[in-house]
Amino acid sequence: MRAATLVILAGTLALAGAVAASGVAAPEPAPAPQPVALKTAASFQSIKDPAARSVALFTEAGKVIQSPRCLNCHPVQRAPTQGNDLHPHNPPMVAGDSGHGPAGMPCFACHGQANVPTWGQDIKSIPGDPKWGLAPAEMAWQGKSLGAICGQIKNPATNGGKSMAELHHHMAEDHLVGWAWNPGAGRVPAPGTQAQFGELIKAWIDTGAKCPKAA
Ligand code: HEC
Ligand code: HEC
Repeated sequence: MRAATLVILAGTLALAGAVAASGVAAPEPAPAPQPVALKTAASFQSIKDPAARSVALFTEAGKVIQSPRCLNCHPVQRAPTQGNDLHPHNPPMVAGDSGHGPAGMPCFACHGQANVPTWGQDIKSIPGDPKWGLAPAEMAWQGKSLGAICGQIKNPATNGGKSMAELHHHMAEDHLVGWAWNPGAGRVPAPGTQAQFGELIKAWIDTGAKCPKAA
């Protein structure tokens, strides 16, 4: 890691510490959220109507899609969020033209090739991946219904021009998507496993890729 990065980070961590020590009676720490299981694609076979099964499969996959690990990088405002409560990124950060941050402060100044453990009390690790960056505006998911997200994901105009096969591959194999199940110390992984998630998406596509009603 470059020295400048270390200075920035030390500043961030010190700031976090100062806020924590500012004297206002700290609320009791909430119990740490636990990883959640996913139902297998096979367990939906009992739903005979393919369209109803398709919706049920996507609704199950939605536990992953709408998990904080995915949502923090798929915001509506052009800035990442953090944690299970989707609070604004600290320090303040914007997407920049490329999604990889402004020229003077790219994501890669702090987010490396892989997760890095820290010595901080509040922040136990800094997430990392070779492709770390913010999802484009047309792929924004935060605050949207699962039905609306489903429509966006299916539409090549808002999914990066992906076919259904490419979409499945992205969900099941992409390394950056996979980070959500390996998010580093101090973060709850996305529900289930990436393989289970990939099977749900595959079965959803095979049953006609039907969407839940968009609210
Ligand atoms: C100055 C350093 C710095 C820069 C630059 C930076 N980040 Fe971060 N980011 C961090 C740190 C430190 C954390 C861990 C904070 C925590 O877990 O509370 C973090 C956490 C995150 C998280 C939260 C993951 C989760 O699920 O909780 C996301 C998402 C994120 N950053 C996205 C980005 C994106 C996208 C960029 C570039 C546009 C970026 N960051 C630029 C320091 C930085
Ligand atoms: C570190 C930020 C980050 C995280 C975490 C992240 N994404 Fe993304 N996502 C991106 C970026 C950047 C793109 C656009 C580039 C691309 O397609 O690879 C994207 C694109 C996508 C797309 C294709 C476009 C669309 O919206 O249809 C899907 C699907 C997707 N992500 C799913 C997920 C899922 C599921 C998770 C959680 C398991 C996740 N992402 C977590 C940054 C992230």
